Amino acid sequence: MKALILSGGKGTRLRPITHTSAKQLVPVANKPILFYAIEAIRDAGISDIGIIVGDTHEEIRAAVGDGYQFGVSVTYIQQDAPLGLAHAVKIAEEFMAGDSFVMFLGDNLIKDGIKPFVAEYEQTDANSQILLAHVPNAREFGVAEIEGGRVVRLVEKPQNPPSDLALVGVYMFDHNVFEAVNSIAPSARGELEITDAIQYLIDKGFRVESHIVTGWWKDTGKLDDMLEANRMILDGLQTDIGGQVDEQSTIEGRVVTAKGSQIINSCVRGPAIIGEDCVIENSFIGPYTAVNDRSIVRGSEIEHSIILEDSRVLDIGSRLADSLIGKNANISRNHKTPRAYRMMLGDNSEVSVL
Ligand code: TTP
Repeated sequence: MKALILSGGKGTRLRPITHTSAKQLVPVANKPILFYAIEAIRDAGISDIGIIVGDTHEEIRAAVGDGYQFGVSVTYIQQDAPLGLAHAVKIAEEFMAGDSFVMFLGDNLIKDGIKPFVAEYEQTDANSQILLAHVPNAREFGVAEIEGGRVVRLVEKPQNPPSDLALVGVYMFDHNVFEAVNSIAPSARGELEITDAIQYLIDKGFRVESHIVTGWWKDTGKLDDMLEANRMILDGLQTDIGGQVDEQSTIEGRVVTAKGSQIINSCVRGPAIIGEDCVIENSFIGPYTAVNDRSIVRGSEIEHSIILEDSRVLDIGSRLADSLIGKNANISRNHKTPRAYRMMLGDNSEVSVL
C-alpha cells in the first residue's frame, strides 16, 4: 500500500499568504499542516509516499526532503497546472505501479489519524473506500448517498443534500481508479473532479464503501478553518517550558515555549505555543495563539492568532485577535505626524482597523 498527498493547488482562499508560500506549509501549533498528514500516513503503517507538487514545489521539497526525518520515503510528482484532484491521481499512475493507495489532501487535518480507516480498507475487497463525516451544512460539501454501507451516489454542493455525510479529504483506491481518471472529462470549472472519478467507479459496478469519521477533522483552506485547526491542536498541548521566563512573567494554563525563547515581564495564557528564539516582552499572549520561530512581540497583546516566523508585533496598543500574520511581517505603532495608518500590504490582504 502506498500514499498520495496532494500538495499543489492554487490556494486562492488563503491569499495573500499563498502568493508567496504553500498553504500546506502554514503552521498549525507551529507545525506545517502537511507534516500532520505525513505523520498520519506513517502511523497507519505506510512508508512509500508520493507528494503532488505545483508552483510551490521548491518550498515543499525544502521542508519535507526525502522523508527521512519522518521515517518515510517521499517521491515528488510535479503537476504542471492545478487541473483537479483526479488529475493529480492521473499523473501518479506510474508511481503507484498497480498498488492500492490512500490519497490525502495536504491541507486537511484529521485529529485521530487514519489508522482504523486504512486497516478497515485492507480487510475488505472494496475497490475504493471514502472517508465521510456528519456535517450540519452539507450544502457546502461533496455529499454521499449511502445504501447499506455502500456509496451509491456523490453530489457536489447539492441544493437538497441526500444525506448529511460530507466527503473528508481522504480516499482509498485500488488500481481501477486509473481507468476512472482516464475516462472522465473535465467539469464546468475545467478540472478533473475526484467525485466524478468515484461516481464512474460506482456506475461501472466497482465497490465503493465508506468509513465515517467520528473525531475532529478540518479542511484548512480558509483563515477561519486554519484558526480552528490551531485551536484544536493547541487544546491537546502539554506544558513544556524550553526557553527562559523571567520573574516578572506569568505562565498560565498549558503553554509550550521552545529553546532560545525569552518571556520578559509578560503574561502567556495557554493554550499557546511560542517557537524558538522568540522574544515576548511587556506583552500578553492569550489563549489559542501560536507564535513561530524568531518572532518578536513587544508592548502588545495577541490572542487567537497565528504568527509566522521572523515577524514583529511592536507596541500596537490594542489587541490583535483572530489573525494570521505571514513571515517577516512588521506591525508597529508609529509616532510620526500626521497621525495615520501606514501600510504596505500584499495583494488580497485583509486589514480591519479599530
Ligand atoms: P483545494 O483546496 O480544493 O484547491 P486549492 O488548493 O487550489 O485552493 P483554493 O480552492 O483556495 O484555490 O485543494 C485541496 C488540496 O489538493 C490542496 O492541498 C491542494 C491540492 N491540489 C492539488 O495538489 N492539485 C490540484 O489540481 C488541486 C485542485 C488541488
